[in-house]
Amino acid sequence: MKTFAIIALVGVASLALYSMAPSVESGVETQFQEFLATYGQNYGTTEEYNYRLGVFKANLESIAEMNKEEGVEFGVNEFADQTPQEFAVRFGFKQPVGTKKSTATHIKAVEGENINWSDMWTDVKNQGACGSCWAFSAAAAFESRYQLAHGETNTDKLYSEQELVDCEPQSDGCEGGLMDFAFEYLIDSAFCTEQQYPYTARDESCKVTKCAGGPNDAGFTDVPEKDEQALVDELMSGPVAVAVDASRWQFYRKGIFSTCNDNLNHGVTLVAVNFDEESLTIRNSWGKSWGENGHIRLALNKNTCGVAEAASVPTF
Ligand SMILES: *[C@@H]1O[C@H](CO)[C@@H](O)[C@H](O)[C@H]1NC(C)=O
Repeated sequence: MKTFAIIALVGVASLALYSMAPSVESGVETQFQEFLATYGQNYGTTEEYNYRLGVFKANLESIAEMNKEEGVEFGVNEFADQTPQEFAVRFGFKQPVGTKKSTATHIKAVEGENINWSDMWTDVKNQGACGSCWAFSAAAAFESRYQLAHGETNTDKLYSEQELVDCEPQSDGCEGGLMDFAFEYLIDSAFCTEQQYPYTARDESCKVTKCAGGPNDAGFTDVPEKDEQALVDELMSGPVAVAVDASRWQFYRKGIFSTCNDNLNHGVTLVAVNFDEESLTIRNSWGKSWGENGHIRLALNKNTCGVAEAASVPTF
């Protein structure tokens, strides 16, 4: 990989000279070479290289198109050589029809008072190419609310998404699942820490017995559907597991995102509301180089990306 990066850098240098000629194609390939060097990406064959260059070019075009929108910015990131279809393996939020609901406690938010829980973690996590977003969403809500229930406001106690992927029986591991199923599973099953049960981004067999003595929850409450005020109210007591339509998020870089459908396909965590700039902040699980240090801001009061449609919290 290192050798390749050096070769790629030399390639970038020579291509940079070459691209003095005003050719759009070589300009794209220069950017592609820069992308490969930055992310240490490498392909086995010339066919694969050419195919990925084509994908990269198509992505540059959709990034340029999306950047016509004001107030939000999209750009090349580590996912720039993946087609939208390939990227979509991460979208593992699957809500079965007729899933049972429970009602939320409704704590009235103080009008105009901002809240921001993002500092409860030192880093965002990375689900990799596995549809385990639901497990990351559930673990983040559990980690933060468990700490808050015990009077602590920062959490370096991180829990195991892999346990949920391997052991939670109603969800489908890397093929998708539901945060409420995870909270239900954690009523009777001790939650392992990440160290005890590390993340592999693959479906594996359940190895949970070694974590006896870990914490449980008491179940979950669902926030009333399409009621963004209730969602913000729920945020006052801690982060909230939410489902969103993340179909247009692949190249998000910064700003307040607002153009979205609501075909829920991704589980994430709501961590902040800011009434001055009218935003909700979402903590994602695609690493910290994506978006704003791993987060995305959504326009407030518009049910942006369906954020208020399937929100819930674990109870203790
Ligand atoms: C929340 O806190 C983080 C970390 O301190 C900060 O970077 C971010 O801008 C804050 N978000 C809002 C919406 O105020």
